[in-house]
Amino acid sequence: MNRKVWMALALAVAGAAWAEKPLYTVVDGNKVDPDTLKGFRTWRQAACDRCHGPNQEGMVGPSLIDSLKVMTKEQFVTTVTNGRVEKGMPPWSTSKNVMDNIDHLYAYLKGRSDGKITKAHVVPMDSPAETK
Ligand code: HEC
Repeated sequence: MNRKVWMALALAVAGAAWAEKPLYTVVDGNKVDPDTLKGFRTWRQAACDRCHGPNQEGMVGPSLIDSLKVMTKEQFVTTVTNGRVEKGMPPWSTSKNVMDNIDHLYAYLKGRSDGKITKAHVVPMDSPAETK
């Protein structure tokens, strides 16, 4: 086989592996994979809950449980990055914490919105002792 064929094969394999990676993994409703856990930590550190509620149910800001059922990931990223300043949603573009973890934040919130992550407070999958 020539180089082009090998390249195409390598890309196909990489693509398939990427496509199979789930957005989030959860067991028992609140034990999640490390990246989704990072999403939860980002949520906490940024204190999104002071406007969207500790369970994402909405307060001055809308329920993100509802929002993420209809928003695309792209819309989510744009809204969080730029905010909607005139409507009270701050921009997070200057928050390294939020920007570095935006995929994880989305995964966590999507899991909540999907009803798969049943408790807002999540813990690592591999530490059964920490099941608060
Ligand atoms: C100071 C209060 C406040 C904070 C803090 C805040 N938000 Fe918001 N957010 C709002 C308000 C108010 C809206 C509704 C804006 C509108 O009416 O379009 C909103 C809208 C949104 C939307 C769009 C929802 C939709 O249905 O269009 C998303 C997504 C969102 N916020 C995510 C976040 C995330 C993630 C964080 C933390 C990084 C966060 N917000 C922090 C107030 C806040």
